[in-house]
Formats: sequence, C-alpha cells, structure tokens
Amino acid sequence: MNAPARPMPHVLDTYGRLPVALSHGRGCRVWDSEGREYLDALAGIAVNTLGHAHPKLVPALQDQVAKLIHTSNYYQIPLQEQLAAALCEISGLSGVFFGNSGLEANEGALKIARKYGHDKGIDRPEVIVYERAFHGRSIATLSATGNPKVQKGFEPLVEGFVRVPLNDLAAIEAQARDNPNVVAVFLETIQGEGGINPARNEYLQGLRRICDAQGWLLMLDEVQCGIGRTGKWFAHQWAGIQPDVMPLAKGLGSGVPIGAIVVGPKALNVLGPGNHGTTFGGNPLAMRAGVETLRIMRDDGLLEHAATVGARLADGLRRELAGLDGVTEIRAAGLMIGIELARPCGVLLQRALDAGLLISVTADRVVRLLPPLVISEAEADRVVEILCPLIRAFLAEA
Ligand SMILES: Cc1ncc(COP(=O)(O)O)c(C=O)c1O
Repeated sequence: MNAPARPMPHVLDTYGRLPVALSHGRGCRVWDSEGREYLDALAGIAVNTLGHAHPKLVPALQDQVAKLIHTSNYYQIPLQEQLAAALCEISGLSGVFFGNSGLEANEGALKIARKYGHDKGIDRPEVIVYERAFHGRSIATLSATGNPKVQKGFEPLVEGFVRVPLNDLAAIEAQARDNPNVVAVFLETIQGEGGINPARNEYLQGLRRICDAQGWLLMLDEVQCGIGRTGKWFAHQWAGIQPDVMPLAKGLGSGVPIGAIVVGPKALNVLGPGNHGTTFGGNPLAMRAGVETLRIMRDDGLLEHAATVGARLADGLRRELAGLDGVTEIRAAGLMIGIELARPCGVLLQRALDAGLLISVTADRVVRLLPPLVISEAEADRVVEILCPLIRAFLAEA
C-alpha cells in the first residue's frame, strides 16, 4: 500500500501531492517505499540532469561532504571560481553570482535590471515581461510571472513591469518608441510552466538587436530550459545570440540546490560590494555538484545525447499520436517536450503514476516531459509505450 493521499500533518499543504513516497533511484528508474518501480520522465522538474545515484556524481559528493559542506562568503571559495569559470566558458559570458534556487537567481536579475536603470539616471525603471511566463514565487518574481493563479491573494504586486505577448516584436518596438523607463527585457527562452512555449529564433535575434539599440539588458531565464536540456548548453544558443543576464538553477546541481546569475560585460559591474548576498549561496557542496555535473555532461557527451534521444522521443510521440483528435500540438526541444491537449488533463498524472511513469501536466492541458539527460533510447521508447495509450484512452472519454 502506498502512503495515503492526505496532507502531511506538520507540512503546510501547498502542493497537490500524489500518494506515493519515492525512496531511491538509479539512472532514470526510481522505486517507492513499497518497492514499486517507476520510469522517471520528470527528473524532479528538470533538476536531476544525471538521473539518480549517478556513479560518477555520488563519490564526488561524498568526498565533498566529508571535506566541507558550507563555510561562508566571508571567505574565498575556490570551487566558486571553478564553477564560474566553467559557466563563463560554456556561455561566453563574463561573471557569475551564486544563490540557491531559480527564484533567487531571477530576483537577483531583477535587482541588476533596476540598478542598471538607476545607474543610467532612470528613477523608475521598468522591465518588459511576458504573458504565460513563470519566474518563481517570491513577491517580485510572482509579479513578473504571467499567471493570475500564481499572483492571486498576494497583491499588491511589485510595480515596474510591462507585459507583452511572446514572439511579437511589434509589441517590443512599441515599448522602445513610447516608454523611456524600460531598462530590460526578461523572458524564458522556452516557457516551461506556461506550457513549453519557445521564443522563436528570429524573435530572440530581434530582441538582441532592439536591446542593443536601446541600451536595454536582455535577460533570459534559463532555469528550466538551460544546462543541456535542449541539446546545447543553453537554449538561446540555437538562435546564435547571447543574453546580458542569464539566471540558472534546477539542472545545474543535479539535485543539490543551486542558483546562478550569469552576466555579460554590460551587467558585469552593476552590483558591487554590499548590493547583494546570501548565506548559503555558493557553498562548497553546491559548487562541487555544479562542477561535477558540467564535467560529467561534457565527458559523457550528454548534449548530443539529449538532442538525439529527445528527437527520438518526440518522433515516437508524434508517430503514436498522429492525427488524434484532441492533440493540439507537440512541442519539443531536445528533452523538453510538451504535448498540448484540447482539454485539461491533470488526471493523467495519477494514471501515469499507476502505469509506472513520472510525468507532469502544466498549464492545465500540456503533458510535460523533462527526463534526466541520461535517459537511454530504450527508456525513451518505453515512455512512448506507456504514455500514448493513456493519452488515447483519456481523449476517447467523453
Ligand atoms: C523558468 C523558471 N524560472 C524560475 C523558476 C523558479 O525556480 P525555483 O522553484 O527554484 O525557485 C522556475 C521553476 O519552475 C522556472 O521554471
């Protein structure tokens, strides 16, 4: 018997949890406390880059835990230098601030945008944000988020945001023409929680052009779509552009909490001593997790793997769901895949669990797959085999 579906007595009831407790894992397989096996096509929401109990990551983390977990940013932390150098090398950017989560990285990015504006003499700086965006659940990041459900009950929202639709350059040009307070454009390269909605390459290139012309910062939230998930280190690299500010988190630590704001030359000197900080951020354990994650990804060719196995998974889904009434669109970039259905499909979460598969449903109608980057071709085929009959049966219901 699995754990019953009821709130845990001392844990605040803020999640709609499924009635299962996972106890251990290996690669893309996890087992619950009753010994039942599941195929993990969610990776803890794009976090477990290397899957579970990776044979190279585990000994590295054990070694680090036995040496140092936390010191303080009062002192030099050489592992920060090492991870920052690696992030700058793979992004082409220039500097990094380390925090603990996605919302923290985004909160820091918003502080950079405001300070950048003030440094230019703009007293009430504004940031362009997007419909259907998700940037986190702090007061500032939920204000930047484009989802009324996330904001409801937490008003007054933080001011200083203007909202536009995705992939509409005319809306950005109108801001450039009419709004002298804009200092930055802030978007997910591929919207995750909003339903796997990519910013088109031409759109990103257009944004880069307008930001350069206007002296605005281009800030790309790669918390969910970054760290190899789409088959390049960062999703914007498919468009051949670079952001000025790039918040990261999730997959960077393969499960150890971490966040990072990676910045280019335009934003490098915006924050100075005393402007920003955090107790846990950049601690040796998280830094080691980041360094080893990037190293293993590189050594094991996981970018190429994410691209090819992701294409195989998407092809399989398209083949099995082709022509099915009620499948609106399948959107895929490497191992970031959304299957949009014509009606809300939250029930598929439990049905997939019952069938031994971990997935997510986001934006009410989008089945989302974010498997570990180590997923094998056979496991990808198995995801298709389990999931497609569930979707077909669901769509056949009245
Ligand atoms: C694009 C994006 N930004 C920010 C966040 C917030 O990250 P965290 O939950 O680590 O605060 C998320 C989380 O889903 C996300 O998908």
